[in-house]
Amino acid sequence: MPKSTLTFMCSECGGESLRWAGQCPHCRAWNTLQEFQVRKAPSGARASSSARGPAALAGGRRPVPLNEIEPDADPRRPLAWGELNRVLGGGIVPGSLVLVGGEPGVGKSTLLMHAAQQIAASGGRILYASGEESPQQVRLRAARLGPLSPGILLLAENDLDTICEAIRAEAPQLAIVDSIQTVTDAGFEGGAGSVTQVRESAARLMRLAKEIGVPVFLVGHVTKEGAIAGPRVLEHIVDTVLYLEGDRRQELRILRATKNRFGSADEIGVFAMGEAGLEEVPDPSAALLGNAAVASPGTAVVVVLEGTRPLLIEIQSLVNKIDSNYPPRRIASGIDINRVLMLVAVVEKRANIALGKSDIFVNVAGGIRITEPAADLGLALSIYSNTRDRPLPDGLVAIGELGLAGEVRRVGQLDRRLQEAARHGLTRALIPAGARAVRPSGLDVVEVRSLAEAISAAFPSHMRSGAFIEEAEVSVP
Ligand code: TYD
Ligand code: MG
Repeated sequence: MPKSTLTFMCSECGGESLRWAGQCPHCRAWNTLQEFQVRKAPSGARASSSARGPAALAGGRRPVPLNEIEPDADPRRPLAWGELNRVLGGGIVPGSLVLVGGEPGVGKSTLLMHAAQQIAASGGRILYASGEESPQQVRLRAARLGPLSPGILLLAENDLDTICEAIRAEAPQLAIVDSIQTVTDAGFEGGAGSVTQVRESAARLMRLAKEIGVPVFLVGHVTKEGAIAGPRVLEHIVDTVLYLEGDRRQELRILRATKNRFGSADEIGVFAMGEAGLEEVPDPSAALLGNAAVASPGTAVVVVLEGTRPLLIEIQSLVNKIDSNYPPRRIASGIDINRVLMLVAVVEKRANIALGKSDIFVNVAGGIRITEPAADLGLALSIYSNTRDRPLPDGLVAIGELGLAGEVRRVGQLDRRLQEAARHGLTRALIPAGARAVRPSGLDVVEVRSLAEAISAAFPSHMRSGAFIEEAEVSVP
């Protein structure tokens, strides 16, 4: 047994600390430091090389000219779903260690069982080590998703030695460990899910994956409290980190790469959860707009970028006058509440309407979370539209960040956004003034400098009717 010493590690950020403290010195989270055993390599032993790059140098440890290094012979193994391949960077890389994180119940096991069935369907073998569910439970789920394939071997086991032995013996095309928080390495203290166990088990699986070239997918539950080590302590160890997100009550699931040694780290894959498990959604904009309400006051369409991918999303606002003296409520779902508060203030001031005596609810359709300021203009228009009880014109998309002065600021990759809008049959786009972009045919592109100009462009009939012109014009900066 190798010697070991104790340090402390934060279950939130994975930062190490020599002493215990109530607060993590790195990320400032409270009560997250846990004892962590550091195994010392026996003296004389050299740390084994991490395989992929150095494999080409094996033999002599001399520097080699870059152009003489043999490219990897093992190609990626693409899965049947383009949405999965995109996030993985083209397919599964042999010998890679991939962490699939997400909240309990979001669909991690379902997603990985789909991947397993796809590999099995093309003649591959998969070892599925489940420490969470009984073989019967795993079988039940698999049967809902597709045919029960003899190529999928199930191992209901928590012991890491047994799992590693099985992976070695079977040398499958893919090994899945569901979940890393249920696995224990008998060589270490601490129960399943402790920082030591989670990290050491992952590190051992990493060495094994590299040594025998078997790709290993780890499931990791994201937990709020620090008692169980979350996937974040593993982010440094693994090659690829994928997070499965989505509202459990809604269909859409987004698989987001946050780290990828073998591909781009900000791609997303979109899926929908249904009766027969997940389905890929190759055209998420269509899915998101498909159930868009007929033009109704408060509904606006925006286009945000997820990685390289533009998504058309519907935002809804509801502005309700209140009689009581209670402070008005501001509730946002799918978008940062502070952004909403700022935009409400901008609308009040720059569009000259009073919102201090109104509750405001904002909702992003489809369970998507918007993080891009490019949606600002659309959100402001949706608040305005609902306050005035006038729908925005059909087929309108609003693109632009809003500044505090009500100015519409430019956003990146406008071309892509406009193309996506045109492709989905939208007819009119409000964009920041001065932004250069290729204007797709069929899309009437209108440049606006301010929120007031955007309001004038979006509600032409109101302008003609008079009442609004003053309000809008007053506020043109
Ligand atoms: P699961 O993959 O077990 O989640 P995780 O491994 O992330 O904890 O998915 C669980 C949820 O998915 C559960 O609430 C039921 C739902 N689900 C469906 O709606 N349809 C299906 O076909 C399957 C298999 C699961
Ligand atoms: Mg699960």
